[in-house]
Amino acid sequence: MDGRDAGIQNAAHLLSNALRGLALTGAGISAESGIPTFRGEGGLWRKYDPVKVASIEYFMADPSAYWSVSRERGGAALAARPNPGHRALAALEAAGRLTAVVTQNTDGLHQDSGSRDVIELHGSGRAVVCLDCGRREPRAEVQARLDVEMPPRCQSCGGGKLKPTVVLFGEPLPQPEISRAFELARHADVMLVVGTSLVVYPAAEIPLAAVRAGARLIVVNAEPTPFDGIAEVVIHGRAAEILPAVAARAVATGA
Ligand code: OAD
Repeated sequence: MDGRDAGIQNAAHLLSNALRGLALTGAGISAESGIPTFRGEGGLWRKYDPVKVASIEYFMADPSAYWSVSRERGGAALAARPNPGHRALAALEAAGRLTAVVTQNTDGLHQDSGSRDVIELHGSGRAVVCLDCGRREPRAEVQARLDVEMPPRCQSCGGGKLKPTVVLFGEPLPQPEISRAFELARHADVMLVVGTSLVVYPAAEIPLAAVRAGARLIVVNAEPTPFDGIAEVVIHGRAAEILPAVAARAVATGA
């Protein structure tokens, strides 16, 4: 058995005995659905300045910077479909091995794959809200207008500040979601972290809270993370390959 197989076996064993398992995911789990990550090889923040593109301060001054990137990139995110990694987490939840998935992603793919309890720490990219009149609109409808309208305008009041319902840099995270994520982490017996660089807080604090409260930590990520040293199981590789192997063993065989 090589290192990866042993890791899969150990992760499956921990999860098959989990009563209050919790997952935390980041951009890496959606990489194989065709959505680029933020950091690392091919990451969005190598091409764009996150402060200028995704901070509330710059957005309020000129929403076009955000929407120009969205014109280029947003279609792929809206068209993306869940991959086997998302589906494996849904299967673990259905089997009672995970209570919820806490995600930093805004792509909605966990919900699409069948996960029922999804806690979105950074909001949802599937809707847009007018900051002038409060009207909400599906993101896909705004996306379809970007070629002829920059920045996009509210179809109700004509305002030019249509903001996706995601958390931009400089904005507070949604408090109910944060509270619930930490509450679940403090009661988790197994914490499964997937596809996140674990450098953005407070999301990265969630596995720490779980470990401090006694949870056993599993990390599945393409590259090393700052928390590999405190994890019981570390598997470096692609989530869409590793998670189905872990879930199949944890669910079917009881590992
Ligand atoms: P990052 O882009 O920082 O990290 C993604 C991680 O996924 C990296 O460590 C990659 O090595 C790993 N990865 C890439 N492909 C993978 C694959 N196929 N399988 C497994 N792992 C893979 O993304 P996040 O940690 O999610 O915030 O970033 C956190 C936050 O920073 C985002 O939510 C966003 C961003 O700025 C806001 O927009 C507020």
